[in-house]
Amino acid sequence: MKQHSHPRGRFSSRLGYVLSVAGSAVGLGNIWRFPYLAAKHGGGMFLLVYLLLTVTLGYVLIVSETALGRMTGKSPVGAFRAFGQSGALRFGGWVNAVVPMLIVPYYSAIGGWVLKYLVEYLRGDVGRLAGDSYFTGFISSSAGAEGWFLLFSAAVLLVILAGVRQGVERVSKVMMPALILLAVFVTGYSVTRPGALAGVRYFLIPNFANFSWMTVVAAMGQMFYSLSIAMGVLYTYGSYIGKDMDIEKSTGQVELFDTGVAMLGGMMIIPAVFAYSGGDLEALKAGPSLTFVTLPKIFADMGMGQAVGIAFFLMFFFAALTSAISLMETSVSTLQDELGWSRRVCCVVMAGVQLIFGSLACLGYGVLDFVQIFGMALLDFFDFLTNSVMMPVAALATCFLILRRVGVERVAAEVELSSEFRRKGMYRFFLRYLAPACIAVILISSVANVLGWISL
Ligand code: TRP
Repeated sequence: MKQHSHPRGRFSSRLGYVLSVAGSAVGLGNIWRFPYLAAKHGGGMFLLVYLLLTVTLGYVLIVSETALGRMTGKSPVGAFRAFGQSGALRFGGWVNAVVPMLIVPYYSAIGGWVLKYLVEYLRGDVGRLAGDSYFTGFISSSAGAEGWFLLFSAAVLLVILAGVRQGVERVSKVMMPALILLAVFVTGYSVTRPGALAGVRYFLIPNFANFSWMTVVAAMGQMFYSLSIAMGVLYTYGSYIGKDMDIEKSTGQVELFDTGVAMLGGMMIIPAVFAYSGGDLEALKAGPSLTFVTLPKIFADMGMGQAVGIAFFLMFFFAALTSAISLMETSVSTLQDELGWSRRVCCVVMAGVQLIFGSLACLGYGVLDFVQIFGMALLDFFDFLTNSVMMPVAALATCFLILRRVGVERVAAEVELSSEFRRKGMYRFFLRYLAPACIAVILISSVANVLGWISL
């Protein structure tokens, strides 16, 4: 087996590290995926479950992955291999590494939607974009949707090939705060629309009548997705930090940042759905289209709708682009490290994967709409497969690696090198007794639900 020893980079400061991890965490997940899931799966109830999962399971997993990355100095496949050669360990490493390869294609399909909206706002027909069937018309147009996906993918691949990731990161350090300011502004506008207050209540106040097991399944998948857990990324980041980096503190900051942006996303979109749906709350169930249908309505209503639309989609585009680039970069470097191929060949392979799976995702709403897997369109199916099946499996693999091979105490000791580790008691207890069981129960029930064995 080839072992490539790239010189490993180092983050020089905690701020730089936290911003980089937060930058990879904040993306489509916060502004597109979180609001539509929260709207669909119980509003305040979803939010409550999501927050509880973030500070428990999410916290434990982020700390674990980062500590394992730092301990071994390797990305996931190598980190698992550092503790043995068994088939189970190889599988564990690979399942973590494959997830980003399957996410980046459909992520880019949605990136294409964002790009399309950006260009349409530049053209200026704000009213048309706010029309009820505009979005559905667009994604079912096949050629159109595919074209924008290809454009977005080309941007991602060009950046990867040219290796100008550093530059992109610098741009996104400006774009990210700007995105947040603009989101605060749009939120302010959205929550003051007549009728929006009911939406604020729906989103912020848990109502147990809205609870279903699906709320938990969806919230857990979203937490993995949004915090970039269970896909090898945090192992890789962990391998780039020094022994003096406070893992406990930085994890808390990343969680706070990511959750804050997700809540802004929810506050922007859900109250507006109440305000613009004229009382028809079926609109809450719109799914993946929610953000793209609701935001244009808000913008069309505003005095400076076009300017706000351009600014917003520009930043949204950058958030999506930087996340897609890190997903692609992770995928390419895993292939490079593990298969020993050149960077160029790995890029070509990933471009192929991207083209095939991304096109399927795009066309699944158009010419391929007869293809339904377990009742889901292709994009929804890829999303379900990665978030609700593969990520829980990957997270379980990390738990077992720690419980069976590394030992909870050793990981805790790694964290304690640089942190007080005040939540150590919770960490140990959760990892030993709750995390594997919770993940397994949620995984089994989500699969059984889709197969029609149970109905959640
Ligand atoms: N967390 C990102 C989001 O919310 C998506 C994502 C998942 C990601 N895994 C990643 C981004 C890895 C960069 C790297 O949109």
